[in-house]
Amino acid sequence: MATDIRVMATLRRMTPADLPTAHDLSREAKWPHRIEDWEMMLALGDGQVAVIDDTVVGTALTWRFGADTDPAKAATIGMVIVSPAAQGMGIGRRLMEALLGEVAGRSVMLNATEEGLPLYRKLGFVETGAIVQHQGAAFAVPVAELIPGERVRPLGAKDDDTLHALARAATGMDRSALLDAIVPGAQGVMLTRENEPVGFALFRRFGRGYLVGPVVAPDAGGAKALISHWLGSNAGAFCRLDVPEDSDISEWLEELGLPQVGRVVTMVHGPVPVTDPTTRLFSLTTQALG
Ligand SMILES: CC(C)(COP(=O)(O)OP(=O)(O)OC[C@H]1O[C@@H](n2cnc3c(N)ncnc32)[C@H](O)[C@@H]1OP(=O)(O)O)[C@@H](O)C(=O)NCCC(=O)NCCS
Repeated sequence: MATDIRVMATLRRMTPADLPTAHDLSREAKWPHRIEDWEMMLALGDGQVAVIDDTVVGTALTWRFGADTDPAKAATIGMVIVSPAAQGMGIGRRLMEALLGEVAGRSVMLNATEEGLPLYRKLGFVETGAIVQHQGAAFAVPVAELIPGERVRPLGAKDDDTLHALARAATGMDRSALLDAIVPGAQGVMLTRENEPVGFALFRRFGRGYLVGPVVAPDAGGAKALISHWLGSNAGAFCRLDVPEDSDISEWLEELGLPQVGRVVTMVHGPVPVTDPTTRLFSLTTQALG
């Protein structure tokens, strides 16, 4: 007698012991995450796994930004993967419904692959934009073109509050805990204009090589100055950036030799977080974390 897989799948909280199997699932989906990337993401958030016969066949993670009392409290969802053999049986929907229950009352953002779009639309997510993924190792080293009064300098020990404020302005979310977790393992620079900090960019290990992100700047010129700093000092390294499609730097990245290799659709469930129009996010921390 045929067994109905829908009856057999159970959901439970993800633990660090699940990460090797989760890593296998992401590799099967041709995603570049290292086990270290999974570890970092689980440490910062909460995950659910779907299990059949003691085998993890599905994953989904969520990250909360801002305390429950923060009027701008938000969350992101990512690493939503169901093993190909178990797809189309409602497991993706169950994982998503479990996470949406955990972060009820928050605006929830995610970046959807083509495969994920139908599921997220059915759950009430609406499209707000798109992210294009640029990457490569054979890029031309750009010359950082600074305007008068502009400077790119290393991050200092006293910059934490400034980073938190710039990230909040650019995303509309409290990214303090996320930044505090990733800055120690990253290199960072600050963009100043007339000695005032107006943007920053981190450079970190991720996936197949390095990731330039997050990048926060007041305009495309400032973002290019920050990105040029990292590309200029890492010629030949495999570098990746996930940039908003409407950010006006995608064409420039193509011209440098960092081709667009993918596109995901940004979606929101609930109100869109309110950002400060003078400060923009030009490159994500990761597609999952936003
Ligand atoms: C996206 C993914 C997680 C969905 O998981 P799943 O377990 O197959 O999804 P479900 O079976 O729960 O289907 C969810 C809903 O989407 C619908 N759906 C799925 N694919 C569809 C398609 N191509 N067109 C229309 N509807 C579709 C299903 O009918 C179902 O609707 P219902 O709940 O109203 O019946 C899975 O396909 C996957 O892991 N893909 C590879 C990794 C990936 O791209 N993840 C998304 C990252 S953002």
